[in-house]
Amino acid sequence: MAEPLLKIAGADVFYGASQILFGVDFSVEKGQTMALLGRNGAGKSTTFKMIAGLAPPSRGEVRLAGETVSGKPPYRIARAGIGYVPEDRQVFPEHTVDDNLIVGAKKGPRGDAHWTTERIYEVFPILAGMKTRLAGRLSGGEQQMLTIARTLMGNPDVILLDEPSEGLAPIIVQAIADLIRRLRDMGVTIILAEQNMHFCLGIATHATVVDKGQIVYRATIEELRHNEEIKSRYLAV
Ligand SMILES: Nc1ncnc2c1ncn2[C@@H]1O[C@H](COP(=O)(O)OP(=O)(O)O)[C@@H](O)[C@H]1O
Ligand SMILES: [Mg+2]
Repeated sequence: MAEPLLKIAGADVFYGASQILFGVDFSVEKGQTMALLGRNGAGKSTTFKMIAGLAPPSRGEVRLAGETVSGKPPYRIARAGIGYVPEDRQVFPEHTVDDNLIVGAKKGPRGDAHWTTERIYEVFPILAGMKTRLAGRLSGGEQQMLTIARTLMGNPDVILLDEPSEGLAPIIVQAIADLIRRLRDMGVTIILAEQNMHFCLGIATHATVVDKGQIVYRATIEELRHNEEIKSRYLAV
């Protein structure tokens, strides 16, 4: 049996003396869109930092395509195929949209160069209309799209999106949702950290719920949608 694309096994993470994640265990198959759900402070961002190598696990491991990546520095993990889009949109404000994309361009771990600026502009028509604009002049939603687009330019095997809809106006949230759905339909493997289950319905295929640094539920998003007990216990819905 082939291993899942991404596997997190028994991962503990500490910040200084305080333990934040406790034996985190879940896996993501190629092509899945996994919603990582949990209340504020549950451990979603820390899980992403752990996968990306910014908060390495003291116990347990992260495996990508059968290879252990935990323990490597963040740039090596990125190069191995994990694209991380942190909560704070990070664009190069003094550079154009086009240059922001070009900076992110690199071949994937197996030499694939699936994503080009042309392809990005097809999938992100909003960005196509502002190629020469300085990234610092974009709205929050446009910057979020640019950050996702730049991460895709690295041809990752899986992308981690940390609360991409946070702090955005409802109409922009809708545009981000449409975009993630489009990426899902193209076969991009995605982990989507969210407090809001409703945002994930119709986007995610699967759901993992984290609470107090522990994984408490794993199922399809449809199963979660109908599980009133889990929703009321662990999610603010
Ligand atoms: N740098 C840090 N140092 C110490 N504790 C932290 C740090 N960052 C987050 N925490 C704590 O870790 C827990 C999980 O936080 P986080 O992963 O950001 O949760 P979420 O993304 O689900 O809101 C919270 O209790 C938070 O206070
Ligand atoms: Mg967070």
